[in-house]
Amino acid sequence: MIIAIDGPAASGKGTLARRIAQHLGYIHLDTGLLYRAVARDMKEQGLDLEDAARAAATAADLDLASLEDPDLRAPGLGDAASVVAKHQPVRERLLKLQQDFAHTPPGAVLDGRDIGTVVCPEADVKIYVTASSEVRARRRFNERMQRGDAATYEGVLADIQRRDERDAARDAAPMRPAADAVLLDTSDLDIEAAFDQALGVIHRKVGRPG
Ligand code: DC
Repeated sequence: MIIAIDGPAASGKGTLARRIAQHLGYIHLDTGLLYRAVARDMKEQGLDLEDAARAAATAADLDLASLEDPDLRAPGLGDAASVVAKHQPVRERLLKLQQDFAHTPPGAVLDGRDIGTVVCPEADVKIYVTASSEVRARRRFNERMQRGDAATYEGVLADIQRRDERDAARDAAPMRPAADAVLLDTSDLDIEAAFDQALGVIHRKVGRPG
């Protein structure tokens, strides 16, 4: 059983994917971490993120154990990850790993931008999670305030809009809903309500996975 959860930054897809995996006893992969790790490794070596060949070589050398590093979720790496994610050779390097993960029995939940369209077009369930950019920026801003980060709402909103634009406009596996994805707009939903709706989508598509 493969469940694909795609959507833009701060749509709530990561929390949702984790909750669904926990509930069903499936494994979960946050595929954004792969691109974040490539960006981190390139920055550490002082490499140019726009260099597709170097980025692909870095992706080929990725140490999967390093995906556990909590610093990967740092806000600055989101933008850098979006830059390396534009390169088709990087995406190719990371494809098989994601597909192997997806086919782990009894099931897997993957969240990202292109899971339903490119990584697992055969996924049993595809959910595309959205929310307005203002709501997403407010969520991220609140998280950062709670952590004591210096950030402004306007700055966070501009970051989100720039990243959405880059992720959706690129040629390689652009962020978009698969034709057979169910759209879930979380603008007015808290995590519990979003989880209930996502579970409803899964039950309608495949019954109650055991
Ligand atoms: O989900 P995230 O914010 O951690 O993702 C960081 C960047 O990685 C995102 O802006 C685009 C890229 N990404 C991608 O291109 N494809 C994926 N499946 C996941 C992330």
